[in-house]
Amino acid sequence: MKIMNILKSPHIRMENPEVVWKKIQKMHEDGADKLMFISDFDCTLSKYKDSEGNRCNTTHAVIEGAMSVRHPELADKAAEMDKKYVQFEYCPIMTVEEKIPYMVEWWENSHNFAVQAKLTRQEVAEYVAKSRVYLRDLAKIYLKKIEENGLPHIVFSAGVGDIIENVFKNQVGYIPKGLHIISNMMVYDENNTCNGFTEPLIHTFNKNSTVLNNDMLFYEEIKGRKNVFLLGDSLGDSHMDLGVKDEGVALKIGFLNFNFDTLMDKYMEHYDIVILDDQTMAIPLEILDYILEKSS
Ligand code: TMP
Repeated sequence: MKIMNILKSPHIRMENPEVVWKKIQKMHEDGADKLMFISDFDCTLSKYKDSEGNRCNTTHAVIEGAMSVRHPELADKAAEMDKKYVQFEYCPIMTVEEKIPYMVEWWENSHNFAVQAKLTRQEVAEYVAKSRVYLRDLAKIYLKKIEENGLPHIVFSAGVGDIIENVFKNQVGYIPKGLHIISNMMVYDENNTCNGFTEPLIHTFNKNSTVLNNDMLFYEEIKGRKNVFLLGDSLGDSHMDLGVKDEGVALKIGFLNFNFDTLMDKYMEHYDIVILDDQTMAIPLEILDYILEKSS
């Protein structure tokens, strides 16, 4: 069976292959009606590096790039800040509780720089078009498959939602139906100049139902969909399903993009399947195809 070959891919690590297989089987038996998707964006739906091995941009990097046109001093400050805080984000020794205050500080400062730079809606859109944010290979097919099967998809990002919207528009052609972006959205004044960001602030470690409110439109759409297909790239992403009501099976797939040796053990604790050093959506797509086989 194709799915079996996929699970033997050299790019996959699993702590417990039997449990993973049981989860996939259960999702397959329950079918499309019970399925919902939660995906991170930066370095999950988008690439971490291109085919030449060059780092791709994250949504925040696009903001920094857009700022650098008129305010290089602010862009420099933001880049300096990234170097400092990313160490806390990925520190294998600190607890999540210890990391959170640093994350809040990072995000608040970063958003303040964008406001100080007075970025406009148009500048942001123009900069996205020339930046190096690329959806993973096969991501378009993956996203369209979810859409065509009428399945709800929450893209949960601690990045900047305006960039994500623009990337989907540029690279898929539109924002797929049923796809909901929950992220930090830029707020603009009457001149289309950024004067703030939406609340609550979403950072790496609070990306779960605690930042959602019950009247969000997709709540109706996800009612009764107890099986979660989750994609992430950070350890925090593995908890994006926290608060999903009456959750059945959660299949968690994590992309490990760097520091394979130091991070692998932790990733295997948090994710059912760890995909290493693979910038495509081939593995999630094959698993999805199998889950949908009888119901599509
Ligand atoms: P996410 O991928 O979990 O949604 O998180 C967004 C990433 O953005 C996270 O890995 C940290 C990173 N980041 C920056 O690169 N620059 C920034 O200014 C901020 C606030 C976050």
